[in-house]
Amino acid sequence: MISKALTAACCLLVVSADATQTGLDKPWMDTALSPKQRAQALVEKMTYEEKASMLHGYGAQTDDWPYVGNVAAIDRLGIPALRYNDGPQGFRDDKLPGTSTAWPSGLTAGASWDKHTVYNWGKGMGVEFYKKGANVQLGPGVCVARVPHNGRNFEYISGEDPFLGYTLVQPAVKGIQDQGVIANVKHYVNNNQETNRNSVSENVDERTRFEMYYPPFKGGVEANVGSMMCSYNKINHVWSCENPETLRRDLKEVMGFEGYVMSDWGATHSLSIAEGLDQEMPGNETFNRISLKSVDPKLVADSVTRILTPMFQMGVMDTPNPNKISNNVTSDSHNDIAREISQNSTILLQNENDVLPLAKDNIRIVVVGDQAWNAVVHGGGSGSVTPAWVKPPLWSICDKLGVERINGENGASGCNAGSKVCVTYDDGSKSPGNTDKYDHAILFVQTSSHEGGDRTNLSFAGGQDEMVSAWGVVDGLKKVVVMSTPGAVLTPWSKDIDGILLNFMPGQAMGDAIANTLFGDSNPSGKLPLTFPNEENEQRMTISQYPGLDNGENATYSETFFFGYRWYDKHNVQPKFPFGHGLSYSKFLYDASTFSIKDRTVEIDVKNVGSVPGGEVVQLYVGFPSSSGEPVRQLKGFEKYLLEAGETVTASFTLTDRDLSIWDVASHKWALQKGEFTIEVGTSSRAIRATGLLEQK
Ligand code: BGC
Repeated sequence: MISKALTAACCLLVVSADATQTGLDKPWMDTALSPKQRAQALVEKMTYEEKASMLHGYGAQTDDWPYVGNVAAIDRLGIPALRYNDGPQGFRDDKLPGTSTAWPSGLTAGASWDKHTVYNWGKGMGVEFYKKGANVQLGPGVCVARVPHNGRNFEYISGEDPFLGYTLVQPAVKGIQDQGVIANVKHYVNNNQETNRNSVSENVDERTRFEMYYPPFKGGVEANVGSMMCSYNKINHVWSCENPETLRRDLKEVMGFEGYVMSDWGATHSLSIAEGLDQEMPGNETFNRISLKSVDPKLVADSVTRILTPMFQMGVMDTPNPNKISNNVTSDSHNDIAREISQNSTILLQNENDVLPLAKDNIRIVVVGDQAWNAVVHGGGSGSVTPAWVKPPLWSICDKLGVERINGENGASGCNAGSKVCVTYDDGSKSPGNTDKYDHAILFVQTSSHEGGDRTNLSFAGGQDEMVSAWGVVDGLKKVVVMSTPGAVLTPWSKDIDGILLNFMPGQAMGDAIANTLFGDSNPSGKLPLTFPNEENEQRMTISQYPGLDNGENATYSETFFFGYRWYDKHNVQPKFPFGHGLSYSKFLYDASTFSIKDRTVEIDVKNVGSVPGGEVVQLYVGFPSSSGEPVRQLKGFEKYLLEAGETVTASFTLTDRDLSIWDVASHKWALQKGEFTIEVGTSSRAIRATGLLEQK
């Protein structure tokens, strides 16, 4: 503690000394100026060569360039190197795996529906990036899940809803940037499939872009994010990183983004500064000291200013990060935070006859499935982080019940005679056999995905569905399934199962998180950020929509807004598990008699009528006047309330003009709609507890 305080004091001294001493020849060190003014002052002093050197970086991960991306320092002016690293759910260190925390993935954090949890997630990652010497985190990932199969859905915090993304991106960015690390919101934009990502044109109209795909990026802008990454795909036949409409006009001019745009790795196709790209990553094939001479110097200065502004804003210029990539930055306390985030994001999908939480005594459990022993907790690609260790959920269950830890061999078991508890492990490779000695089966299943490819189906591979089905039909056993998945999955066996828990890609602390949840030490409060379908391609997407016609070169968004719950509502189809769904060990009563809509403020009292404390996400959906052509209902407000047993809260939401507007293509502006809006408050998109009307004149 003391040494930290001393270091901080010492740095402050250095800065202020520098600022006064250099007030004349280094005006950019004057902290009374805004970050942008400081950046502008510095750019004025830079040579052309120096400016050009900031518009590209290297990605070698060598001794000289140790990070995933590196922009050279300019020592003469005291500009430190920029050090970029993946990814959106923790520091990826391929050379020293295990030296950083494998946090829950973006989709998992999104499933918390909780700004505080998401802030802590961003903060935890930001702290580790800083301690690893990085000053830019290549995350959070925010694309909206259009296609359930997208291999990167697990990285993205938005799930299938733009408002959820818009809201949660903000605390994620703040959590990261509060640690002196520049966040990078990615991948801008419509990088919604991995199939043919390097060639596909995502053909999507302007209104759909603004209403469905831009809002999470706008959330980043509002949180003052320092950087964004343009994506591999084309949008309407123009490469994303040289698309003047999406980059220069929509992002910079309309949304007001003042930071800089770097290309995804290898996604620079031309010297597209005028179109809105600021920095080529990695390499300098296109943005280099020779080519940049052909560019208007004002554009070059603007791009450099955009890069330097967040460097001032996040303290990168004033207190250069002294840390090294070789540092081991994970810790027990970060493991605890990762566990808490996973717990807060765990979704209780089904709980027949209150099978959960499980008792801690007089219970004989069989834990089934390899996932209980070799847990998959992460997706693959640049968003992966190799943890030092993943405690097997099986061990966490044993620890919780005071049973000696069982190793992962088929059939091993242990008992705690004191509490009359026995735990047995079965890897699930054979049929259940004699189950007389158990009363509960906990079935662990997983499926993962990775960057660079989509999932070919939404099932559990390797005989896991068969395993659950086989155990599902065993009489005399209560069955609970624990699913770790990178997005939506099919659960054809659910009618035979009593309880289902879902934790998406839960990160390294999954074992203790799930044991705490199974036995009620943590009360699940996550909600589905995306719809779970009954069958493959339930939304009847055509090949033209996904993965695209012309050898997958053209994916056309003819469904406009109607994917995810917007599709299910429009077609009146009951999904398997709806958007926003998630149960609790508490019960929450929405008192319809207290429901009110005054001007733009919607209120309702919600009481925890259960016997344990719990978190409830109160959700507000808006239905637009029919003339608007908008979907039946759209999320426009949510808040997670933590309530003691018996406690009541007045949930309150105030709708803004933007919430009641559609994107008007003719004027390129939001247009407030007039008429009767339907206002719904509920515990999911399909469990509405109160409905009313709001008249907008
Ligand atoms: C990914 C980015 C990542 C970059 C650097 C690309 O393949 O799409 O998300 O940040 O690589 O590793």
